Amino acid sequence: MNDAVGSLDALKAIDQDVYAAIVAEEERQRDKLLLIASENFASPAVLAAQGSLMTNKYAEGYPGKRYYGGCQHVDTVENLAIQRCKQIFGAEHVNVQPHSGSQANMAAYLSVLKPGDTILGMDLAQGGHLTHGSKVNFSGILFRVFSYGVDRETETINYDAVQKLAEECRPRMLVVGASAYSRTFDFPRFQQIAKSVSAYLLVDIAHIAGLIAAGLHPNPVPYADFVTTTTHKTLRGPRGGVVMCKAEHAKAVDKFIFPGIQGGPLMHVIAAKAVAFKEALSPAFTLYQQQVIANAKVLAQGLLDLGYKIVSGGTDTHLMLMNLTNKGITGKEADAALGVAGIIVNKNAVPYDEKPPAVASGIRLGSPIVSTRGMKEAEMKEIVGLVDRVLQHRQDPAVLEEVRIQAKALCSRFPIFHTY
Ligand SMILES: Cc1ncc(COP(=O)(O)O)c(C=O)c1O
Repeated sequence: MNDAVGSLDALKAIDQDVYAAIVAEEERQRDKLLLIASENFASPAVLAAQGSLMTNKYAEGYPGKRYYGGCQHVDTVENLAIQRCKQIFGAEHVNVQPHSGSQANMAAYLSVLKPGDTILGMDLAQGGHLTHGSKVNFSGILFRVFSYGVDRETETINYDAVQKLAEECRPRMLVVGASAYSRTFDFPRFQQIAKSVSAYLLVDIAHIAGLIAAGLHPNPVPYADFVTTTTHKTLRGPRGGVVMCKAEHAKAVDKFIFPGIQGGPLMHVIAAKAVAFKEALSPAFTLYQQQVIANAKVLAQGLLDLGYKIVSGGTDTHLMLMNLTNKGITGKEADAALGVAGIIVNKNAVPYDEKPPAVASGIRLGSPIVSTRGMKEAEMKEIVGLVDRVLQHRQDPAVLEEVRIQAKALCSRFPIFHTY
């Protein structure tokens, strides 16, 4: 058992059911090839902080201005988290209290927009996120939404088309960022577009924050009014969110996080964010992120070489979208067959997908977790072979079982957390 998880013996004595589920989950994480692009394995130090008794403390308010006594130690960790996050991204103001990426986005919107205002964001069906204006999300319920997508030919963002759309819909906020887009964002260009229509610019770096922290993707902070992120994807911290903004929006952002949309901050999670930010400032983290990108590129190239289609023809980041239409396989089928074979991915719509999202024409693959385990280019090539085998023999249970054993054997050569 990972001793950073805390006292599992105490849990075992009280609650066999939850204990057994946690042990089973640890086995799952250890034995399967996890290629979900939005997940990662937090370090033992992050897990220790998150599993600590800081969860016991109420601390409504901000460091030095709390509504509760006894906040001196939680103030220490919140100040450390803020200061380290500023050091990583160079933001003028940082709020580390959002419980999630969605709440970070909600606070950023509400700090300058009113219900009924217009936003322009990337379409969920083309790589964007629910909180960028989907009808079923608060963002689509509260705001008038226009969406941009990717170019049909290049499958990358067409900045001229975004400019044109912005001129037509005149948004109050231009929203940039994605959950399934594998190419580098041109932030100066987005800033120009936002400025040209007097819109605020919000950049959501939830997926690419770790790459930015390591200097391997451009940083939007100099260009955007607001930058939001999750802390648990490439950034490899605890599950949570952050809002960064220009100093002029600091008061409004803080007010909308608390008391606007949240109550007491999760101090154990904020402590773990501080730890993750310290790790992100280390040279080892840069090496890790270099490997994340190198691994994703090998995975994409290996699949391309076998005749699979990768949206936009490759990746600059930690993720890629495979379009399986030319192979006559749906995303749902691929996801299910790979899952049986111990390779965990998610089905995903591809740009201009004709299938409903629950079926989808593609799958999304990412390298953050396998890279955290220390897998490198050679292992990525092995993974390409395993994925191909499953897709080719997806209806053959014997092959799926064989691959499951191979995937487990590959995993067994690597610890859950490799130190770079
Ligand atoms: C781009 C982007 N923004 C925001 C979020 C929301 O984060 P959370 O799940 O923590 O609410 C995600 C999560 O997938 C995301 O990909």
